[in-house]
Amino acid sequence: MPDPTLTRHPILRTDVWHTRIEDYAALNGALLDEIRSHQQQEPTPLDLSFPNCWRGVRKYAADAPLVERINAAAFSILSDYRAEEADAREALVADSFVTDVFYWTNINGKNALNELHNHAHAGDLAGVYYVQGTETGAIVFKSEQWSDNEHAAHIPFTAPFVFEPHDGDLILFPSYLKHEVRPNPSARERINLAFNVTVIRKGSGPAGLTRVRREDFA
Ligand SMILES: [Fe+2]
Repeated sequence: MPDPTLTRHPILRTDVWHTRIEDYAALNGALLDEIRSHQQQEPTPLDLSFPNCWRGVRKYAADAPLVERINAAAFSILSDYRAEEADAREALVADSFVTDVFYWTNINGKNALNELHNHAHAGDLAGVYYVQGTETGAIVFKSEQWSDNEHAAHIPFTAPFVFEPHDGDLILFPSYLKHEVRPNPSARERINLAFNVTVIRKGSGPAGLTRVRREDFA
């Protein structure tokens, strides 16, 4: 603990959240069947795919338990942060808000990687669910304070966080947090659903739902 006469006023802290889905084998088996037929039907990957990566967008029939889990996790994470902030902004409560998940599928073959990027303009939280993750290479998170290892190790919030995924792992993180995916070192394909989660206010907007922006909490 630091000197107790020093008062801490936190301004920087970023977290990556992780859980492993119970009974992920059954979920992944069902998802994998749909993913394989998706890939067969649309063999050409979407734009922005890196070499040896296939990417497609389709909603899978087997996604219900996963989407439900993502929504529950995202809502609890975001409402907890909101409650921690000591100001008068409206609490993120289930009576007024819901979260919405948009996901896409990535299949990365041997040596496939993804360069450093973030999802800041696409959602509030971002995340990944691993249908096949074990031994397929790490995802690495780098804070804005990370600076290509130019900072000395004792400077706070500058160290990358390296996460080695396992099948059934679900991770969530703030959409502004930069991350990269290391080359897949194995012959086993890395198969995941990447997603963005957006907070939506209930009962507003033409469809009854509106993305919540900073000014909504003014
Ligand atoms: Fe990403």
